[in-house]
Amino acid sequence: MIVDAVSVIPEVFGPYVDASILGRAQKAGLLEFRAHDLREWTHDRHRTVDDAPFGGGPGMLMKPAPIFEAVRAVQELGPVPAHVVFFSPCGKPFDQAAAERLSREERLLFVCGRYEGMDERAYSLADEVLSLGDYVLTGGELAALTVTDAAVRLIPGVLGGEGSADEESFSEGLLEFEQYTRPAVFEGMAVPDVLLSGDHGRIKEWRRSSALERTYRWRPDLLETAPLSEKDRDLLADVAAGLEDENPTGPRETCS
Ligand SMILES: C[S@@+](CC[C@H](N)C(=O)[O-])C[C@H]1O[C@@H](n2cnc3c(N)ncnc32)[C@H](O)[C@@H]1O
Repeated sequence: MIVDAVSVIPEVFGPYVDASILGRAQKAGLLEFRAHDLREWTHDRHRTVDDAPFGGGPGMLMKPAPIFEAVRAVQELGPVPAHVVFFSPCGKPFDQAAAERLSREERLLFVCGRYEGMDERAYSLADEVLSLGDYVLTGGELAALTVTDAAVRLIPGVLGGEGSADEESFSEGLLEFEQYTRPAVFEGMAVPDVLLSGDHGRIKEWRRSSALERTYRWRPDLLETAPLSEKDRDLLADVAAGLEDENPTGPRETCS
């Protein structure tokens, strides 16, 4: 996959995308990340990308002209047309399904907003607008990195020996099951016996039950759309009954 990112602070991307899994994906030829400075497409001495909003109000807005020029010029770099993504709190909430969809694109072009956002006309260049959630970031760079990370790790070969994305949270509509590593007992807290049993059938069943329990506890909304078997529904009924006995006043406040 080729990822192009247009930003007024293109230097922020390198330290993240050149490290760890994304860095290795680049070395393996599975990812090429190209950061572009929006100011390259300005034509005044001060390389101005912003201006005051019509109608008044605080802050500055990104001017449309550099964004139009940048997107057209970066598209020309090819080798294939890019799927163009803008970021805004007004966008469609980004989720794992979107990450899966974007991981199948050959080329993505991210345009990162700053200041009070962009002139509305710039969004006409976007194939889609994504939001990371109901809060306001100072810029779209973290959104571009988040979407790159979530999508690229799903490209076959990127995770390599470091694990598979198949069983992770959201991949099957549920949160991931509880995980433990050595030591078997830590500060009086023991790992569930079944995980030490070597019985892969029982471990698989326990993990499914753990995933259902965690989802029921922390994200019951996911259960409305998760594909569940009859057996899952029975397990869920047991989980619900067990939790009610354990804590009749309601769930704990945090996941861990
Ligand atoms: C300070 S924000 C502008 C917020 C805008 N004035 C508003 O109230 O919706 C600047 C840029 O950060 C990015 N941004 C901020 N919050 C975001 C979010 N929740 N999801 C995705 N991008 C976001 C967008 O690119 C946005 O143009």
